[in-house]
Order: sequence, then C-alpha cells, then structure tokens
Amino acid sequence: MAFDIEMIKSVYEKYPSRIAAARKAVGRPLTLTEKILYAHLTQGEPTQAFERGVSYVDFNPDRVAMQDATAQMALLQFMQAGRSKVAVPSTVHCDHLIQAEVGATADLNKAKDKNREVYDFLSSVSNKYGIGFWKPGAGIIHQVVLENYAFPGGMMIGTDSHTPNAGGLGMIAIGVGGADACDVMAGLPWELKFPKLIGVKLTGKLSGWTSAKDVILKVAGILTVKGGTGAVVEYFGEGARSLSATGKGTICNMGAEIGATTSIFGYDEKSEAYLRGTERGDIADMANGIKEHLTGDEEVYNNPEKYFDQVIEIDLSQLEPHINGPFTPDLAWPLSKFAAAVKENGWPAKLEVGLIGSCTNSSYEDISRAASLAKQAVDKKLIAKSEYTITPGSEQVRYTVDRDGFLDIFGQMGGVVLANACGPCIGQWARHGAEKQEKNSIITSFNRNFAKRADGNPNTHAFVASPEIVTALAIAGDLTFNPIKDTLTNEEGQQVKLDEPAGLELPTKGFAVEDAGYQAPAKDGSKVEVIVDPKSERLQLLDPFKSWEGTDLKGLKLLIKAKGKCTTDHISMAGPWLRFRGHLDNISNNMLIGAVNAYNGETNKVKNQLTGEYGEVPAVQRQYKLQGIGSIVVGDENYGEGSSREHAAMEPRFLGVRAILVKSFARIHETNLKKQGMLALTFANPSDYDLIQEDDSIDILGLTSFKPGQALTVVLNHKDGTKHEIQVNHTYNEGQIEWFKAGSALNLIKAGV
Ligand code: F3S
Repeated sequence: MAFDIEMIKSVYEKYPSRIAAARKAVGRPLTLTEKILYAHLTQGEPTQAFERGVSYVDFNPDRVAMQDATAQMALLQFMQAGRSKVAVPSTVHCDHLIQAEVGATADLNKAKDKNREVYDFLSSVSNKYGIGFWKPGAGIIHQVVLENYAFPGGMMIGTDSHTPNAGGLGMIAIGVGGADACDVMAGLPWELKFPKLIGVKLTGKLSGWTSAKDVILKVAGILTVKGGTGAVVEYFGEGARSLSATGKGTICNMGAEIGATTSIFGYDEKSEAYLRGTERGDIADMANGIKEHLTGDEEVYNNPEKYFDQVIEIDLSQLEPHINGPFTPDLAWPLSKFAAAVKENGWPAKLEVGLIGSCTNSSYEDISRAASLAKQAVDKKLIAKSEYTITPGSEQVRYTVDRDGFLDIFGQMGGVVLANACGPCIGQWARHGAEKQEKNSIITSFNRNFAKRADGNPNTHAFVASPEIVTALAIAGDLTFNPIKDTLTNEEGQQVKLDEPAGLELPTKGFAVEDAGYQAPAKDGSKVEVIVDPKSERLQLLDPFKSWEGTDLKGLKLLIKAKGKCTTDHISMAGPWLRFRGHLDNISNNMLIGAVNAYNGETNKVKNQLTGEYGEVPAVQRQYKLQGIGSIVVGDENYGEGSSREHAAMEPRFLGVRAILVKSFARIHETNLKKQGMLALTFANPSDYDLIQEDDSIDILGLTSFKPGQALTVVLNHKDGTKHEIQVNHTYNEGQIEWFKAGSALNLIKAGV
C-alpha cells in the first residue's frame, strides 16, 4: 500500500559507491550516522569531509511526514510553490487534533465534526499534490511511519519533534518546521549543520521488569535535557542488537527529550523481523543486500572513543526500571530509589491516573507486556486503584491487540481505550476536574512531562515510565509501590505479588487491520480543487509577500525593543493559538505578545508612535500596516530560540515588519526570517542595542548594493532630532539575497529560479 519500493531501491543503489567515496574523503572508518548523511548529500558523491558541529551541509531527504497541526501551514506554503506534485514521497497524519474525553469512538466522532474543515483541507491538498493522507483515527504519525515508511539507511524529515522515532528502524529522521518540509516537497535541498556524534554502547540483555524505555530514561538522566543538542545519538553493541525494532523506536523517539538532532540504531535481525512482520519483506531483502552499509564500521564500534565525540556505556543486564519526573524528563529515578524520593519531596503518593500508549510506547510488545499485568490483576482479584487509559499508536496495532484479546483484558481491569491519536500527550485531554488545579500525580508511558502538558493543570505531577511500570503502579494506585518487591492486598484480603511482565515482540498471527485509514492521492491531481472557505476562522490561503521595492528602507517605526529571552514561543505562542495555525491573519494576533518591552518591562504593551499611546503589539503593528508604514523589531541575544515554528517569522512579515535587528539569532529562526523575505540583522557592536530609543524612526541603508559579507548601515533618528549611525551585520549569501529581493524564498521557487 504505502511504501515506495522504487525510491528505496534507488537509495540503496547509490550506497556502495557513496560510502566508498565518503570513507576516502573522511579518511577513516565511518559511523552509521555518517554513512547515511554522506549517502544523502545534494552534491551526490562525497568529495570532502565535513566538520562536525561546524559545517552546514545540503541534503536530499527521501521522505517527508507531517502531522495535522503543523501540516496546515506547510501545505499552505507548498500551494504557493507552483508545483503540481510533491518531489519526494510525503504523508499527512491526523493525530494532534483529537481530544480525549470519554473513549475512542465518541472522541473521534466529535473531533471529526469539530475539525471538519481542517481535515477536508488536508485531505484535498494531499489528494491534489500526491501526498498520502492518513485520516483521523488512523494513528499517530510516528507509529504509522514506523509501520509503513521507515526503512534502514533512509533519511526523512518530519514536522514534529518526535520524528526521530523512525531511527528505531535505522533511518535518520529529523524534526523540522513547516517551511523546511515545504522546501523538500518542492524539490529543494535541506540544510543541516553536520551533527556531532554521541555513541551509546549497550551491553548485556534486558530482563524482568526492565524494558527499552528504561534505556532512554537512564540516558536522559545522564545527558539531561540539553545534553544531546546538535548531536546524533548512535546506539550499538550486542545489547542494541537484542532490542526489538519498536523498543529501539521508543529510545529514538525520546532522544528528543535530550535535545538530540536524532537518534539511530543499525540494521540487524530485529529490524529484519519487524520489516517482515509489517509485510515489507522486499525491503528486508534489499537491506540484506547492502547490510554492511546499514550499520557503523566494526572498527568504530570496537574503539568508539576514537570516533564519537562522547561515549556512554550501559549494561542492560544491570539496568533497573526507571521513573522520570516530575515536570522534566531528565529527573531520572531508579525504581528502587523512587519511593523514597516521592516521600522526601512531598509529591502526592496517591496515583490518580496511569496512561499507556502514545507514539512513544504503543507497540504490540508494549501492549502485550502491559496486558500480561492487567491479566494478573484480574486473575489475582486485584482492583486497579487508579484510572487507566490506553492510547494505541495506530489502527493496525489497535485492531491486532483487540483481536488478540488484550483490549478486553484492559477493559476487565477498568481501563479505557482512547482514540488512536495524541490525546493527553499533547494536552488534548478533557480531564475531569483539572480546572480545580489540585495537586495530584499521574504516570504515563509518553515522552514529555512538562507542567500543564497533559491536562493543563500546573499542579499535576506527571511522571514517565515504561508501560509495564505504569500499569503496575496504576493497579496499586500508589507511586511508592515497587512491583519487584512489594505485595498488594486483593479483594479477598490476601497479599499477592505481580509476576514479571511477559509479552511478544510481534504477533504470532501477524498484524491485521480492516481499514488502516489510509487515503492514497489521486493519480492526476490537476482537477482536484482545494476548498478553503474565505470566511473560515482556521484556514486562510496565503497571498505571496510583496517583493522588495528596490530602495533603502526609511522611516521605519520601532515596534518593540525586546529585552532578554525571546523564544519562538514569545514571538508566536502555542496553547489556545494552535487552532489558528492554518490562518496567518488570525494567528498574527499573537505576534510577540510574550516578548518583554525593554522600556517598561511589560509584555504586550508598546508605544504606538502615531498616537503616543500604549497598545498591544499586534494592534499597534496593524495600525502601522494600515498607514503603510514599515517597522522594525529589536531584540537581545539568541532571538528566536526554541522551535523551528515558521509562524514566528511569517507573522511579522505578514503584518509589515521589515527587519529584525538583534544582538544574536538562533540560527533556524534566522533562516526562517530570510525565507520569508525579512531582513535579519545583527548589531556589529552589540552595545548599540542601548542606543535604540522608544520613539526612534529608523533607516536601513545599503540595500541597493546588498552583498554577502558586507555590513549595512542603520540610522537611528531620535525624537529630539539627534541621530546615531550604526553598522549592522548579516549572514545572507547570494541566494538568500535573492529571496529578500523576490519577497520570499517561495516567490523565487514559484518563479522557477
Ligand atoms: Fe503525539 Fe505526543 Fe507523540 S503529541 S506525536 S503522541 S509526543
């Protein structure tokens, strides 16, 4: 159905010669990460070695995946690119907009109703441009990708931070913003800073209560939430080979929690079994043909210190189950120390809800192992003390675990099966009573546990663990319960103990599904119409941004001088604004509302230079726009850090801001600004930031001879008639200057340049 065998074949054909060329260029044995990256260079055969953590390199990914919240703007932009079809296989997955409330069927129906126009839009755009469409209820993006599209040695980008899940099947899979997805779908290269490499050597073998999840919970504790930044985490060793492909997926998925660019495992027998189990034996056959290229060179794994930037070793035989949290995924507690931590820190010991599943942990193996505990609870006459929910990752998994009786067992234990969607994992959880904001504890097998993420209650202490540990603790209703040594009192007053969980990596009868929820695109999409209601609140077709007028920019009003941290969340907030992700005009009403005004220390309160009054940032900017007056935003260090959210660059552009002038940029945001035709400038002398006054009218000079490496001049015309002339730098290359001139990168793509 869904995978593209010809594409994979052509990727594999290139492997032998490209790896040989890479080895020659680099002059030493290669890690798996390097092999895949060098095999996907836009330039073709590698001719030079790239410096890790330094070189910016163009790649040609094989595939694009998008979830419904981020796909909207990605596809609205793609529609602007003037292409009749996507250049690489791409898919859309409707998983983020389904709210969990009562149970799978009712919740799904409600979501279909509520989000109808968004789903209809995504479905018709997909149909028109050759994009595979996974309907609401089909499953969560990363699980569906693992089951259908991930392949060893492939390279994929996805508009979701847990895209690295596909690393479990040996794919370099990286989370990006919609603008990047749009570029790749339009056939343009994708740029990435060549990553640093962290090697994780796994020895021994898991047993008993320990599962793959505990590997990443342990790694998160070692590396912390920032430890993987700019790096790919490559796992290897006999321990790695002993893990199921889906277990590996869980580990790679949660690599996002340590900030890693992505994580990856090499191709092995478990990968082959999973490919065959998901009816992709032909891919397994092809992968076997180039096996030696789909894992790191032996010498690299024998002497990892020589080849990786950092090496961690974990003995799976010694690894304890872990529980991480609350409020951060890197606060790692071995199970044996957790009960004491709960008491010492005064966390609520009573466990209110246990939630299993999500994109992180909803494999057949996960569900069958958790079900083995649920069965024990029923057999041993234990009544589960906590509420318990199950979120299957895909309809294929749901159908199969239902067929094999596991959902029935969960039901007997009092569990509620939710829709195959993100649900509570992304705050789409209408949790009863959450509004009271009571202090309480929940435990999930998800990946993130930041405050408010699951139910919006800042006092919910969310912990993360394996599905097995979540299930055992939900049965006990107590966070201090240690299933390895503690007993529970059953209905008959007897003391009973839970046996170790047991399960199967793959279903013995094979996977099954009646309707997987996939809609293939039209062969010829030229006649397909994409309908967007002009009155829609949630969707708006994009108009191309105007091209540069060919002159210097004069008389720009200072909109805001932002002080301190200004992340993409400060520039374009999430939360309630998520619903406007497909409507640029409406979402622009959140522009910079979180940024702190340097002149009054307040957020969303800036001086309107036309009236002298203070108003909300978007409202003031709309007045400038109405008068045809351009403006400028001034910022501090690392402006735009956080995410690759393109809305943070599109909103100011849409509302008529002409330039962002800061002490320094977060690089992805800087590129996003350039792509949208905005001027992204930095102070040549950072202390010039202090020269900017609240009533300044600002000129940007030198644009008529805009050149790479050549500074521009900014004139600050102060209200008292004095002036300051300062130098500002930029990092535009020739091509990016053309984006600026054309009004945006998309305008240029459309013009066929
Ligand atoms: Fe969805 Fe949560 Fe995964 S939001 S994609 S289930 S991390």
